[in-house]
Amino acid sequence: MSRPILAEQGAALVSRLEGARVGELREIYRQLRFVQVDDMVRPDRLAEVARRAAELARPYTTRCERPHDVAPGSLAGGYRFDRIDWGAHAGSRHGEEDRAALRAVFDASGLSRFAGELAQAALPFLEAVVDRELSYDRVFLLVYREGDFIDPHGDSQVGQRLMVQMPACFGCRTALRILKDGYLEPFYDEPGCLRILGPGIWHDVLPILRLEPDRPPERVLVSLRFSYA
Ligand SMILES: [Fe+2]
Repeated sequence: MSRPILAEQGAALVSRLEGARVGELREIYRQLRFVQVDDMVRPDRLAEVARRAAELARPYTTRCERPHDVAPGSLAGGYRFDRIDWGAHAGSRHGEEDRAALRAVFDASGLSRFAGELAQAALPFLEAVVDRELSYDRVFLLVYREGDFIDPHGDSQVGQRLMVQMPACFGCRTALRILKDGYLEPFYDEPGCLRILGPGIWHDVLPILRLEPDRPPERVLVSLRFSYA
């Protein structure tokens, strides 16, 4: 029997869809198009599979980078991170063979299975929170190293898709920020947290900072893409 993926609160949430907590999360999502649930997945399992998959799949990385747009009085629009994804994405140079090989690496590393099991276990919960029917599309990785970041973005991304993200962080303390009441507010990358990001929300990723002098920091974001059914 495989080890459980869901943490204590995660297991409680998916088994009590009518509970008050799910109602609260639905309300937060309705207001922000974003919600973060702490203690959703087992941090040890997430870290293990994220690190293994990121290492094995490194040859299939798309480096995503764009300098800030600098104009008198403004600086914005930059980003710098790695994307490991067999699906269509900006800057991808994968041919059919690369895509198939990367899928095989995701399978061999256990990432496909981890994501598939999680999607299956959490689907009714996710649907209850976002109040839409969803279908699981694919898993991919975003990898951030020291100094990587994403400037505020998102307002124009209003496609029919939903992202579920789980950060696994090594040697860093990191956060995503979400626009809330006029300010980009930090949501820390807590071990085992799960986030639902709806379309069109303004957000950014703060630069990855080193915590320990001799350990290069790394943030691996396990991202599950869902479509609206
Ligand atoms: Fe984003």
